[in-house]
Amino acid sequence: MLTHETNDLVLRVKGGAQLGGQVPISGAKNSALALLAASLLTGETCVLRNVPNLVDIERMMAILSALGAQVSRQDDRVTVESSQISYGCAPYELVSKLRASFFVIGSLLGRFGQAKVPLPGGCAIGARPVDLHVRGLQALGAEVQIDHGIVSAYCRQGQRLQGAKIYLDYPSVGATETIMMAATLAKGQTIIDNAAQEPEIIDLAGFCRSMGAKITGAGTKSITIEGVDSLHHTDYRVIPDRIEAGTFLVAGAITRSTIRLAPVVPDHLIAVIAKLKEIGVNITQPAPDCLQVEGGEHYRSVDIETLPFPGFPTDMQAQFMALLTLCPGNSVITETVFENRLQHVAELQRMGANIKLKGNVAVVTGVPALSGAPVMATDLRASAALVLAGLAAQGITTIKGLHHLDRGYENLEQKLRHLGVELERVTL
Ligand code: UD1
Repeated sequence: MLTHETNDLVLRVKGGAQLGGQVPISGAKNSALALLAASLLTGETCVLRNVPNLVDIERMMAILSALGAQVSRQDDRVTVESSQISYGCAPYELVSKLRASFFVIGSLLGRFGQAKVPLPGGCAIGARPVDLHVRGLQALGAEVQIDHGIVSAYCRQGQRLQGAKIYLDYPSVGATETIMMAATLAKGQTIIDNAAQEPEIIDLAGFCRSMGAKITGAGTKSITIEGVDSLHHTDYRVIPDRIEAGTFLVAGAITRSTIRLAPVVPDHLIAVIAKLKEIGVNITQPAPDCLQVEGGEHYRSVDIETLPFPGFPTDMQAQFMALLTLCPGNSVITETVFENRLQHVAELQRMGANIKLKGNVAVVTGVPALSGAPVMATDLRASAALVLAGLAAQGITTIKGLHHLDRGYENLEQKLRHLGVELERVTL
């Protein structure tokens, strides 16, 4: 059991270490979350392998349990059996802590013709509404009511969801996933146009197909789903976490070290690798599932605009900002995906970074060095950015707000220690 009580703890990072060695990359958090939600599409047993042991994953498992599923973990293997599930309401206390848990609305509605899930609420990086999810489910014929913060979706008496042609105004990852799940068990064909193309969408399609779903086009802008009557048991392996891998690539770059990462899928990191190369970092691929990052002496500034896949991922924006604080020249970072995802700017400034912020645009002027400071993690990826800045800073950085970090990085401290970093969790 992971501890959720991290409020009194800080992470002390000693800067200036040279890193070396190989780091194992865990299974993808965001993929595993969607797959866990999708496991409710069948009453038969679903086995998921390579599931990272993280607070967010524990929360999703707790939601499935609260709905009546039998959920257990052994090492990196999670088993879900939901033959006895009730379609009562998912508990608000859990859904409010994990936006991805809202996605169970798609699988519950597809399988039972009804679902009740609380609105996930706001979060640290923006308002994050669920209008695209709701409109997609309505297009499949569901009646959807939102009352006192609870979303109730149901099919009319005796009816099933009905396949439809759905155009998403924005290629939302979560909405694409919710609609895909619901449509697997709908009657007839569903086409999602302007769908999200993230690797996690391809993984969800692979998982659903392994249960008997008929899905083509995942990874492109147009996904076609031929509804089937039921799905069956499966045993499926989650893809490696591209954001964790990207974070370690930046760790090598910012400390000017050489490290290897495996397993990874280099195609999932195309935009990240391209930007690192543009900065002057050497990236090679010693094996099909392995990347080597070799930090250089002379880096240059680059401009970054976050975009849906295959564009530069918003989940890597904060980590790149940490790196760019040490790259000579002016880098312009434009965050287009979330409206409030630049809170790490103030914390990096405490470490000596030169960043000017206007709206969703940050202009980062490289400085020769950062200095260790007490800082506060404001969201998951911001906390990773502060750890990275701490690796390169002179002296000690102490990071508060570790509950953010624990949501998304499995054994981060152990992995960094193995690479040669001195860091520890201490009580304030
Ligand atoms: C997922 C990832 C998250 C990543 C994000 C974008 C998971 C569990 N999380 O989040 O790490 O940062 O993709 O790559 O997979 N939006 C709407 N209406 C909707 C849905 C979304 O306006 O109904 C907006 C959001 O507010 C946001 C943008 O669309 O501004 C992108 O959101 P979306 O792609 O849905 O992200 P998530 O699925 O929440």
